[in-house]
Amino acid sequence: MSSDRCRALLGWYGDNARQLPWRETTLPYHIWVSEVMLQQTQVKTVLPRYLEWFELFPTVEALASVSTDDVLKAWEGLGYYRRARFIHKAAQMITSDFAGRFPNDFDDIMKLPGIGRSTAGAISSFCFGTATPVLDGNVKRVLKRWHAKPEANDKTLWLLAQKAINDSADPATWNQAMMELGASACSAKSPKCGECPTHENCLSAFRVEVSKEIRKKVE
Ligand code: ADE
Repeated sequence: MSSDRCRALLGWYGDNARQLPWRETTLPYHIWVSEVMLQQTQVKTVLPRYLEWFELFPTVEALASVSTDDVLKAWEGLGYYRRARFIHKAAQMITSDFAGRFPNDFDDIMKLPGIGRSTAGAISSFCFGTATPVLDGNVKRVLKRWHAKPEANDKTLWLLAQKAINDSADPATWNQAMMELGASACSAKSPKCGECPTHENCLSAFRVEVSKEIRKKVE
């Protein structure tokens, strides 16, 4: 069952993925900046700012060497400015502690300010191919619905996320596909189970379909 779901999700992602610039690179600096920008800001707002960023700060060293005010100015419009301070601090740490190279060890990535387990999972899988899950709001919702566990806590969700990515053939694409599903067919307010590649292996979609059938019968 889970391998069917895995195949269906990866196949659907291959056909339906949005082309986004951070999906066309595996450079850690670029992936890191995109993931921090996307933590609390929508894709359409991030897109132009992401492209501008690398004109202003082409390398980690360039970012580390400017003033905090320069970084805050470049962050204007993205909101949650704490992230800009963290990114600047992290660039200085990469320069001083990691000889200017973005770390490739998961625990080292987690040491950088502004990077929690989910963002570290994204960076590590996209750049280094590790089976480290993303668990943002969208992915949590997908997992809760697949398993019909609306009340699941983070500990349970991390376990489910880890198991799912372990079963997938391609962890980087898996993480992208999970986020894409949560941002489209498995949206919070109006899930479109009919358009979801995993509805046959989703306990909640099953319930939606059953209740639709019952509704049809009594109409
Ligand atoms: N949100 C967080 N990371 C993302 C990514 N890589 N693509 C699209 N949306 C995201």
